[in-house]
Amino acid sequence: MAQVSIDLAERSYPIIIGAGLLGNPASYQQLPAATTAVIVSNSTVAPLYAKQLTQALQHRFARILQVTLPDGEAHKDWPTLQLIFDALLQNGCDRKTVLFALGGGVVGDMTGFAAASYMRGVPFVQVPTTLLAQVDSSVGGKTAINHPLGKNMIGAFYQPQLVVCDLDALKTLPAREMSAGLAEIIKYGPIADMAFFGWIEAHIDQLRAGDPATLAHAVQRSCEIKADVVGQDEREAGLRAILNFGHTFGHAIESGLGYGAWLHGEGVGCGMVMAAQLSQRLGLIDTAFVERLKSLIERAGLPVVAPVLSATDNAGRYLDLMRVDKKAEAGEIRFIVIDGPSKAALRTAPDGLVRQVIDACCA
Ligand code: NAD
Ligand code: GLY
Repeated sequence: MAQVSIDLAERSYPIIIGAGLLGNPASYQQLPAATTAVIVSNSTVAPLYAKQLTQALQHRFARILQVTLPDGEAHKDWPTLQLIFDALLQNGCDRKTVLFALGGGVVGDMTGFAAASYMRGVPFVQVPTTLLAQVDSSVGGKTAINHPLGKNMIGAFYQPQLVVCDLDALKTLPAREMSAGLAEIIKYGPIADMAFFGWIEAHIDQLRAGDPATLAHAVQRSCEIKADVVGQDEREAGLRAILNFGHTFGHAIESGLGYGAWLHGEGVGCGMVMAAQLSQRLGLIDTAFVERLKSLIERAGLPVVAPVLSATDNAGRYLDLMRVDKKAEAGEIRFIVIDGPSKAALRTAPDGLVRQVIDACCA
């Protein structure tokens, strides 16, 4: 088992990474004492893993409840969040109740937001079961739901007590979801560690095939990079924004097509190609780097051609969608660009240049 620490003073917590962790009582032994545990999962993941988790928690909690949400990004919304609050209130859950997010990033983001707001804050644990959630969304305390006008626009910064990354859970993950997780792993290369990027290039086939040792290294290194960034800038005053490389374009794709049409990781993968193109057109990197990144994203099984979002003014539609972004200020879009090896920055760009990128990248 490997362990990565998130150092945030009194909000610090461990991320444990390894095989067989989810169903092992020892994984949860450092949690605060409480009588009730609530496992929040979805209709796909609960039948696979809720029993294992329940058995592991039986030693610590007198009462274990389960809330099963509908599956999918389209359900990352108010009515689905309400199902968690309904269950907590109907069962008289107190302030010490511990919520367990068992699932991918959608379950993790919603459970975290529920934990942040139920009785103004109850403890929660992330038990991520997708590659994307293990390398990114379960770590760092961003929680949110979507709004029809913009992705992740309603939420809170709220840290979990513990993150349990069980690599065995990835064995049941569909290939398309593995590729989506690879997008967030690849992201850490250009923004922070080009040596890691080279390692991913050399191991992409093993990663796609689910080789346990290769996945273990990828999850650990990704968590280390994210922990370092979050430890320096928990609430995204500046540096943390680099973790959004590819996300401004990617979120526009996700909300423009309707949540769930493209996976989040697919939007990020294609969005990174677009953000790299923008960086190149701003004179920050050369075309060879753009092609190198595009090639790896393609080899990861991710789309590199962006979808057309409007038959009349496609670039205008992208621009409108990208203005509804948490990084935007006074209506001005700010992009994460690459401006050197392992180095990213937050920049504005002229609309004309962004339009050129969209035209060049769209089908
Ligand atoms: P997801 O949660 O929708 O999971 C993907 C699919 O895999 C779902 O159908 C799920 O039921 C299924 N699944 C999960 N684990 C499985 C397993 N072990 N075996 C079989 N099927 C399994 O998607 P995701 O890619 O995990 O997360 C995407 C979400 O995460 C987006 O909403 C995104 O905005 C969010 N996100 C948040 C952060 C953050 O910092 N909070 C970072 C990145 C992404
Ligand atoms: N996934 C972006 C962040 O956690 O900041």
